[in-house]
Amino acid sequence: MRVVVFSNKKGGVGKTTSALATAAGLVKAGYKVLAIDMDGQGNFGVSSGGEKNVKGTYDFLKGDSLETVLQSNGVYDFIAGDKRLSNAEADFPRIGSESLLRKALKKVAGYDFVIIDTPPAMGLLTLNALVVADDLIICAQSDAYSVAGCMELFGNVELVRENYNENLNIAGILLTRYSTQTNISKQMLPLYEQAAQVMGAVVFNTKIRENIKLTESQVMNKPIYKYAPDSNGAKDYEAFLNEYLEGMKNNG
Ligand SMILES: Nc1ncnc2c1ncn2[C@@H]1O[C@H](COP(=O)(O)OP(=O)(O)OP(=O)(O)O)[C@@H](O)[C@H]1O
Ligand SMILES: [Mg+2]
Repeated sequence: MRVVVFSNKKGGVGKTTSALATAAGLVKAGYKVLAIDMDGQGNFGVSSGGEKNVKGTYDFLKGDSLETVLQSNGVYDFIAGDKRLSNAEADFPRIGSESLLRKALKKVAGYDFVIIDTPPAMGLLTLNALVVADDLIICAQSDAYSVAGCMELFGNVELVRENYNENLNIAGILLTRYSTQTNISKQMLPLYEQAAQVMGAVVFNTKIRENIKLTESQVMNKPIYKYAPDSNGAKDYEAFLNEYLEGMKNNG
């Protein structure tokens, strides 16, 4: 079971969009996937067509069994996030609170991949995800402030490596909403490459272009490869997934 986490403390950079496309893409590629929404906004579960007012990640972290929190959209299985997660910091016990997900996942077997979507913050929920992560994918958009955010996340990765999870691998920086038409995307690329080098990681060759079909597919609760299989969004995420899987093979 390989755990893949999408993160960045910055909001709106394509974490959820990337997690959704990757979960569905992995199933299309023949893998069995469980997705876990660690975000109190609950966007992953809603976009997956999840039911409202059912048990979810919050309960799973509190010790409820997988069966009682599990949903499926006929493609992948998932555990939905809801706004109770936003209180997690205050709600959860102080001792061991960074390892709640690790404990909960011990009850889980039979999946090839666990995909985790995280909130736009470097708090307890993201920490729980990093503690169990095999691969971290840093989602970033081409604007001036994002490189600093990536480096801040890297600082936390190093702390998590030291304290909880020495095998935490940064699979790469995934640039989203990328525009080959604008200069800012081009100007930012070398800065991301420098940042990646410092992290001992790469910027994925695949860039996710701006594509409205991605937003539409979320509103329609359909994976992008089903909603608009010929769209740039579907093509880019497929190329990204292949690049990720290829890199994983090479890194063992
Ligand atoms: N490549 C893209 N082209 C067009 N729209 C996109 C693209 N990627 C994401 N979006 C849209 O941008 C918005 C923010 O994306 P998303 O929810 O994936 O970001 P996020 O990092 O998960 O945000 P948050 O931090 O709030 O959870 C969504 O409406 C999504 O549909
Ligand atoms: Mg999100």
